[in-house]
Amino acid sequence: MKRFLFGLICCMLVHSAFAQVNVIPKPTQVLTAKGAWALKAKTKIGAPADTTWAHVANMLAAQLGKATGQVPNIVKGKGDISLVVSGDASLGEEGYRLLSTPKGVTIQARTAKGAFYGVQTLLQLLPVEVFSETPVAGVKWTVPYVTIKDVPRYPYRGLMLDVCRHFMPIEFVKKYIDLIALHKQNQFHWHLTDDQGWRIEIKKYPELKTISSKRKETMKGHYRDQKFDGKPYEGFYTQDEIREVIKYAQDRFVNVIPEIEMPGHALAALAAYPQLGNNPDKIYEVGTKWGVYDDVFMPREETFKFLEDVLKEVIDLFPGKYIHIGGDECPKVQWKESRFAQDLIRKEGLKDEHGLQSYVIKRIDKFITSKGRRMIGWDEILEGGLSPNATVMSWRGIDGGIAAAKERHDVVMTPGGFCYLDHYQADPKTQPVAFGGFTDLAKSYSFEPTPEALSAEEARHILGVQGNVWTEYMKTPAYVQYMVWPRATALAEVGWTSKEGRNFEDFSKRLEIHKKRLDMLGVNYFGAPTNDKFEYVWPEKK
Ligand code: ACM
Repeated sequence: MKRFLFGLICCMLVHSAFAQVNVIPKPTQVLTAKGAWALKAKTKIGAPADTTWAHVANMLAAQLGKATGQVPNIVKGKGDISLVVSGDASLGEEGYRLLSTPKGVTIQARTAKGAFYGVQTLLQLLPVEVFSETPVAGVKWTVPYVTIKDVPRYPYRGLMLDVCRHFMPIEFVKKYIDLIALHKQNQFHWHLTDDQGWRIEIKKYPELKTISSKRKETMKGHYRDQKFDGKPYEGFYTQDEIREVIKYAQDRFVNVIPEIEMPGHALAALAAYPQLGNNPDKIYEVGTKWGVYDDVFMPREETFKFLEDVLKEVIDLFPGKYIHIGGDECPKVQWKESRFAQDLIRKEGLKDEHGLQSYVIKRIDKFITSKGRRMIGWDEILEGGLSPNATVMSWRGIDGGIAAAKERHDVVMTPGGFCYLDHYQADPKTQPVAFGGFTDLAKSYSFEPTPEALSAEEARHILGVQGNVWTEYMKTPAYVQYMVWPRATALAEVGWTSKEGRNFEDFSKRLEIHKKRLDMLGVNYFGAPTNDKFEYVWPEKK
């Protein structure tokens, strides 16, 4: 009987944990006890004498300082809140333990990154006002007594942003990264080049700035209406700005993956450098329509030189392991009609134009690998044969991901039906114009990244999950936020929390509190009180 009662009490404690610990993504294990520790007037944060750990302590101190009006002091070693190096191998590179007791809060981790995630949890254990940019009076700054052990399910938890269809200012990109970090995601995939605009400075090719970053006009309303606004549009990041974003992301333990599209989605580059296309004499114009263009790179030696020069500068700028080369939606019509392309197919003994696409990707893979990096591309890079070091982003469903994992290639799952945040999230009649499709919060949340079709060995190649944000219909930062959160919050939990630990009803309850944090951060998520303040393109206003 005693044991039964003890079990019952423990169950109640665990159960109550989920009633009051509204952490997103949901941690692996949470035990609560009655009571809470309160921040002191002069709370000290203790951290190891290591610059990265001290940086994590500083980030926490800065946030607490902003919201409470009292910036905690940082001390070496033990504080009221202590960041502590742990030797516990079961925490991995990103896990942490958080203990809140009458003596204060301890966050243990093997790495500063793990401690940073512990800090994210600590912030979510505090009242939501801790996310305020300015001091909030009258709040009891308490942390419930808890013991948390938390380790992510997948190593890759990403969010992509297309800045080609609509350019997003640096300040917004930083805010996007803040939200990635808040949700314990660790990859920001920056889609920097496409038909409708080239957005990254490449010193060797200055016309990418003066020509490729500008378009004559932009589509108005939905693609099917074929209307244009008649207004010139442009946007571009200098290499200094790119460095600034990378540093900002590093400070939040977010890796930035640049995407440079090839061999398709090349029209903006061709507008400046027509000699890299099928017809050097053609007047190419930066795309004004959405969709896919037939104008693609022609795989001449001159084109490889351009692509390698561009990648060289990109590799020098971006320190992360992955370099994304697109590889998707490359129409083959021009290669079919080109004497040069057909001769190359014969000379190289390739089967057809898909073989030629594979030839291009393999050469680029070799180049990127020679620089000590890893190439990643959309699942079309499987066509004509996967190159040896490729990592695959599976977007046309999960079949590409399954095929790649079976060939022992790493995979990031980002299938359209679950992870495309440009889809409608509610009845289109009630929503601003969007790409199409229907992916609501529940659908995103329901995604299971590891397909049952894979063996345990193959499943190890599923690195994780990513939300994709294509901005054809998202003209402003506010509109991007409207489309992205809270669906990206759901995907963050898919990437972090175990399969067994996930439950949509429970998530939805925690989300109600989480939305208040997003309100504090000024995020115009779907359903936010701010939604009415912004102009969107509504169907009736097209
Ligand atoms: C894609 O959506 N074209 C990767």
